[in-house]
Amino acid sequence: MKLSRDALIADPIWRRREAGCKSGLDMTETQLTTQAWRDRDLAHFLHPFTDHAALRSDGARVIVRGDGAYVFDSEGARILDGLSGLGNVALGYGRKELAHAAAAQMAELSYCQSFFKTTHPTAIALAEKIAALLPGDALNHVFFQSSGSEANETAVRAVRRYWELVGRPERRVIIARERAYHGSTAMAASLSGLKPMHGAGGDIPLPNVAHIKAPHYYAHGAGMTPEAFGLVAARWLEEAIETIGPDKVAAFFAEPAQSAGGAIAPPPGYWAEIQAVCRRYDILLCVDEVVCGFGRLGAWFGSDALGIEPDIVQLGKALTSGYAPLSATVLSDRVADALIERGGEWAHGFTYSGHPMCCAVALENIRLIEDEGLIERVAARIVPRFSRAIETFADHPIVGEARSIGLMGGFELARDRKKREAFPHELHVGEYCSAEALKRGLAFRANGDTMTLMPPLIITDDQFDFVFAVVRESLDATARKFGLMD
Ligand SMILES: Cc1ncc(COP(=O)(O)O)c(C=O)c1O
Repeated sequence: MKLSRDALIADPIWRRREAGCKSGLDMTETQLTTQAWRDRDLAHFLHPFTDHAALRSDGARVIVRGDGAYVFDSEGARILDGLSGLGNVALGYGRKELAHAAAAQMAELSYCQSFFKTTHPTAIALAEKIAALLPGDALNHVFFQSSGSEANETAVRAVRRYWELVGRPERRVIIARERAYHGSTAMAASLSGLKPMHGAGGDIPLPNVAHIKAPHYYAHGAGMTPEAFGLVAARWLEEAIETIGPDKVAAFFAEPAQSAGGAIAPPPGYWAEIQAVCRRYDILLCVDEVVCGFGRLGAWFGSDALGIEPDIVQLGKALTSGYAPLSATVLSDRVADALIERGGEWAHGFTYSGHPMCCAVALENIRLIEDEGLIERVAARIVPRFSRAIETFADHPIVGEARSIGLMGGFELARDRKKREAFPHELHVGEYCSAEALKRGLAFRANGDTMTLMPPLIITDDQFDFVFAVVRESLDATARKFGLMD
């Protein structure tokens, strides 16, 4: 059945369904059993960040549908997505407005390259909108890519190009942090401070990348007040600059709060001091807002929430609520002016830089966040409840520390909470806890032995209560399993 363009724009998804065409699959394929999906999955789909031997023995969970805060698997189980996908599905699943925006843009202009003095209205409108939303009045120049990793690649290239153009080519070294996650391409993995990534092939880390310790109070702050620790942790940046040589350092890369590293909230005073150090040494500050951007910390950006003034900002994930792959690297006037006025052609870009459909989805996503007052709701109503709920776990027998910032929460599992002693890695305690939660209908991710929660911005009161009831049951079950509770 062929549909007219007008009909598609009017109601594309539901009409496609009527036409018997669901998700591009033959209808008979949607009837396959879970086992059949698993067999086919193993044969050809190589999964990211996966232990393939474990996948072979356990099989994948097959997710077939999403609606609001929930996803549904091929066995009919309903799972509340306590992680918002990978921290990206801010608006939840199945929003028709976003599907319609995508379909309308594809019908109007499905693709437009932006290399050869060519542009299109949707990318222009989105760049304008992002520049207007970001804090301060200097972050005005938006470069688009498809992923957060690429946003960081672009930021590194912009930093190094900037220093070359202003006559300081010896400024090459990028300082990042342990437990940071900046993505999986070669440079983004190098910036990341998660050790297993550096052993995973590709001669990573690449040269001229250094790491300082994370501002992780639980791990490094024993015997200090959080305020004192904030200053100590910021001083690690200054020490690294002095050791490397101030003339060699190009930039500091950091997430406002570290999500994949285990929901690490910066201690009080940390960011103000980091900002001061960067200014003192004239180091560019590149803030990876891929997770914190678009509401996660109860403000449009983590930089708003924490008073950061970046030279470059990397955005991704909730920019489209996960409905389309899109990221953006936003350069301040200082950096962009050098590139534009002195640089000639900047030999950098992607086929899908500013893809029309992705930009249309992002614009609609931002419109929905604004029209529904989601960030205000999250800040005023959800975040205070979230932090209170997390605090109730502070003395749980298996929790060394329960912490949160905005709608990002972490539970550090500990064998001996008083001594802050972790479980041996081989016990996979976090994975056990995660499986207990999944059995009860909650996706509750384990980053090593730090359990992480990042619910969607649209979470309702009932869903909120369900999440914390399951978190408690899962932590209790894990504590019993590992001998910390009767
Ligand atoms: C802070 C941060 N930066 C960058 C990335 C990489 O984004 P992507 O997976 O889209 O490449 C991630 C992904 O989780 C992230 O959490």
